[in-house]
Amino acid sequence: MKPIPLPEYEGVRFPAFNIIREKGIEKAIQDIREIQSRKSDIMICTYPKSGTHWVNEVTNMLIRNKTELDTVTKVSTMLEVIPDLSVLDALPSPRLLNTHYSFKYLPMQHIENRCKIIHMIRNPKDVCVSFYYHSKSDTFLDFTGTWDDFFEMWMSDKCPNGSWYNYEKEMEQAEKDFPGMIFNCYFEEMKKDNTGEIQRLANFLGIPCTEKIIENIAETTSFNHMQKNKLDMTEVISGKGFIYRKGEIGDWKNHFTVAQNERFDVQYTERFKDSSYKLSFEQIKET
Ligand code: A3P
Repeated sequence: MKPIPLPEYEGVRFPAFNIIREKGIEKAIQDIREIQSRKSDIMICTYPKSGTHWVNEVTNMLIRNKTELDTVTKVSTMLEVIPDLSVLDALPSPRLLNTHYSFKYLPMQHIENRCKIIHMIRNPKDVCVSFYYHSKSDTFLDFTGTWDDFFEMWMSDKCPNGSWYNYEKEMEQAEKDFPGMIFNCYFEEMKKDNTGEIQRLANFLGIPCTEKIIENIAETTSFNHMQKNKLDMTEVISGKGFIYRKGEIGDWKNHFTVAQNERFDVQYTERFKDSSYKLSFEQIKET
């Protein structure tokens, strides 16, 4: 797929997926807004590179009552890449959907029906690094620059899908506006206490689970197991998989210069000071 300049909508650049090249970003968003929701729908909402594949796999196991990796990938239910949204009609309930689009672009009925939302959040320094590697490999993103170029793009809110701050702030506001609808899953907590986080998620979904099942899910969705055994659609598309890269906390330390880190911290402190999200930037011992 030949890279093209990314389409813009409301001041934000969006990945140039095939369907967006075909019908335009405005129509693509409108069609997603008009999806007929089912009351049992579950939506995974993430800023890119926050651990979407991981939480999608965990959630899929919980709702389907299984402990093996799914043979389909999360891309098949990623709203913004689906060529024909009517394929969603054939999915069994509860449908597990996902998107990187911000809260205001979610299907209207999903919000009206107060359907469940799982929001995975990760510390933005690691998101930034992960996004850099993804952008270098993903032809839908039209990025050929260096780490420094990517860093500047992040700092000026020009990354595809828009600013991480805007995305997370909108999600936090939605949490206040629609109490109980959104579950926050923290990437770093999943690393530190995966069984605890999976149990919390099961509680949110109202799914009773034994300790043994939770342990099995944690084991099967560990980074090493997924990297080795999970079908990575980016490998199918480009011949080289780039989703299961490192799966660590703190890889930003291998990329940020001291000066970049200082600038990032100033921006983070200023723009995230009122947030209730408590993010961790340091490697913590895995359980
Ligand atoms: P890195 O690039 O830092 O390795 P997304 O699914 O939103 O695209 O996020 C991808 C990031 O989540 C990648 O981060 C990837 O390695 C990490 N990831 C995916 N599965 C994981 C798992 N089971 N455990 C830990 N990290 C995982």
